Amino acid sequence: MSRIVLGVSGGVAAYKSALLLRALTEAGHDVRVVPTPGALHFVGAATFEALSGNPVTTDVWSDVPEVAHVRIGQNADLVVVAPATADLLARAAMGRADDLLTATLLTAHCPVVFVPAMHTEMWLHPATQDNVDTLRRRGAVVLPPAVGRLTGPDSGPGRLPEPADIAALAAVVLDAGAGALAQDLVGRRVVISAGGTREPLDPVRYLGNRSSGKQGWALARVAAARGADVVLVAANVELPAPFGVRIVPVGTAEELRAAMLAEAADADVVVMSAAVADFRPAAVAATKMKKGSASEPDTVPLVRNPDVLAELVAGRAPGQVVVGFAAETGDADGDVLAHARAKLARKGCDVLVVNDVSAGQVFGRAENAVVVLGADGSVTEVPKGSKDAVAAGVWTAVAGRLDPPAEG
Ligand code: CTP
Repeated sequence: MSRIVLGVSGGVAAYKSALLLRALTEAGHDVRVVPTPGALHFVGAATFEALSGNPVTTDVWSDVPEVAHVRIGQNADLVVVAPATADLLARAAMGRADDLLTATLLTAHCPVVFVPAMHTEMWLHPATQDNVDTLRRRGAVVLPPAVGRLTGPDSGPGRLPEPADIAALAAVVLDAGAGALAQDLVGRRVVISAGGTREPLDPVRYLGNRSSGKQGWALARVAAARGADVVLVAANVELPAPFGVRIVPVGTAEELRAAMLAEAADADVVVMSAAVADFRPAAVAATKMKKGSASEPDTVPLVRNPDVLAELVAGRAPGQVVVGFAAETGDADGDVLAHARAKLARKGCDVLVVNDVSAGQVFGRAENAVVVLGADGSVTEVPKGSKDAVAAGVWTAVAGRLDPPAEG
């Protein structure tokens, strides 16, 4: 059980903080809610007290003998501020202590995660962006807002991410420390493929595979949380889009290839986590193949699909890091790592993320463990954890390979 401070500032998205509070307490954490006075215009203190089981105060004049404005921050394992309004970000960047939440932020030694939510104009204003830069420079995590419908008729970046996504990222920081969401991908463009391709046989049938897309989703979510501009080329994945990520939906290997080659042109990192079918039916029947009819096939001839990863490697821009994935089993010819090293050399990518699927694990499971092999011979073991925690381990290994950002 960890001690989490949930800071809530005064925006309409404050109503979602009750759901986040619920997710954090259900995960077994002791949560102390510290709203700003403005937040209580949107959600009553009684709601936070009932859901957290802890008292709620907003100012530094309550519980004075307890010295709450110092103790709450000092004792926390994690502070999450959701929603963080433009005003809250400004006051935090300035180091003010004019309410209990900002005082708490000044005394917290633990990781701090800000989850901004506001109107698009306020988010994009240089004042807000400067405040975000300042907070990141001081070691805080600032998540990108989700894009979508805002209060009123307009839409754009500014929505609070889903409470379940925020809770998943909070769990990663509690498990692996603030470094798991280091803000080291700010200004980087990342393109990730996820899911599994489907190769049609006729209008209703296809050859597919069991990839759920969950690991690719986690890679996208964590890259966005680390500040990257993320494009997710998604092959047949039904999951809701992660916040701050642009989705390009595809079906077949050929569609995935075209999308990846187009998106990779100006990317800093390209990740091929999709399960791409190596083969497709040589011909696609225009009408449904029927039993007992002339269209009933005896066999289904297959032809090779292009190797997208190999093409991405061949067309790689200077400084671009290309990451491949491999699901391997050991056999008489070698163990998992031996096969993986051979694949890394064969594919020519910079990094290969290796899943051991010997025991049939991984597909669709919540947990995963990988080994990250570098073309330079480096070997990084990412221990078993949630797919978000594994994604964080992969990004730490990849971020270390990026050239320093261009000046200016
Ligand atoms: N991949 C790809 N295009 C394909 C097949 C695979 O880009 N047509 C990518 C996958 O996304 C993954 C990596 O290549 O990043 C490894 O895929 P895998 O199928 O394991 O590689 P193969 O070379 O096909 O190896 P094997 O001989 O084990 O089938």
